[in-house]
Amino acid sequence: MTKAAIVFSLFRTDKLAEELAQTLGLEIGSLVLHQFPDKETVVTINSSVNDRDLLVLTDLSDPNAKGLPLLYFADTAKALGAKKITLIAPYLPYMRQDKQFHPGEGITSRYFAKLLSSYFDALITIDPHLHRWHSLDEIYSIPSTLLHATQLIARWISTNIKMPLLIGPDAESLQWVKEIACFTKAPYLILEKTRRGDKQVEVTIPDLDLYEHHQPVLVDDIISTARTMIETVNHLKELKKPAPVCIAVHALFADAAYQDLQKAGAAAIITTNTIEHPSNQINVLKLLAESILDN
Ligand code: R5P
Repeated sequence: MTKAAIVFSLFRTDKLAEELAQTLGLEIGSLVLHQFPDKETVVTINSSVNDRDLLVLTDLSDPNAKGLPLLYFADTAKALGAKKITLIAPYLPYMRQDKQFHPGEGITSRYFAKLLSSYFDALITIDPHLHRWHSLDEIYSIPSTLLHATQLIARWISTNIKMPLLIGPDAESLQWVKEIACFTKAPYLILEKTRRGDKQVEVTIPDLDLYEHHQPVLVDDIISTARTMIETVNHLKELKKPAPVCIAVHALFADAAYQDLQKAGAAAIITTNTIEHPSNQINVLKLLAESILDN
């Protein structure tokens, strides 16, 4: 008889992992990541993993700090006899460095993919930032399952906003905005964005007069510095339009980005729980559970 899979949670995903294990009727694994005073890490896996499949759920925001311990976890599990190790990274980092933007730069999305592919046997993720890469298979050599939070976001919008006007801040956001527009039957606009630096962003807003009675809803995959959203909020303010609701899949919120966006005047800030954050209002649990059951 095959032994049942076991769910592990690494890095700020305990709540989602517990709910996932409960939904799937699986055991939740016990592990300790101990950091020594010199900042080296040792992983101890207390549950029996021999001959078992592992589902490893992890928040991979701030990936540099988590990367090595994550790989040590995979190696430790393999050494203890684990069979297939599936990495569930609802937010997949490093996807935006998908070309050499400046001479001498590395393409870290490729290197990160190579690293994860050599430690894990499969990957499940939600709305990775696919822009110049068209599929994860171009850089990941392990099988990957790509899930979309668009339907969940559309449901939230339909339940909470009367006449939404969906606004995507840049060309990349078209993929999310178009799908949400299709589910909600709401009109949408895509803006043109120019990023001049980590925290310098410019966006152009087309004519909004047609949508006088609509509630602007900004939709993007990631909020990191929040400059993209803040710039758009400011433009709408200048045009005397209603304050927009800002929605993103992944709540990265670097430094004080969340407070900055609140201060800029967003009517509400809504995210999914791919990364735990006070703005989480859309739960991806069912999406993950269904995909695991289908596999
Ligand atoms: C980039 O193309 C992404 O889709 C987001 O627009 C971007 O990552 C948001 O970054 P920030 O919050 O730093 O403006």
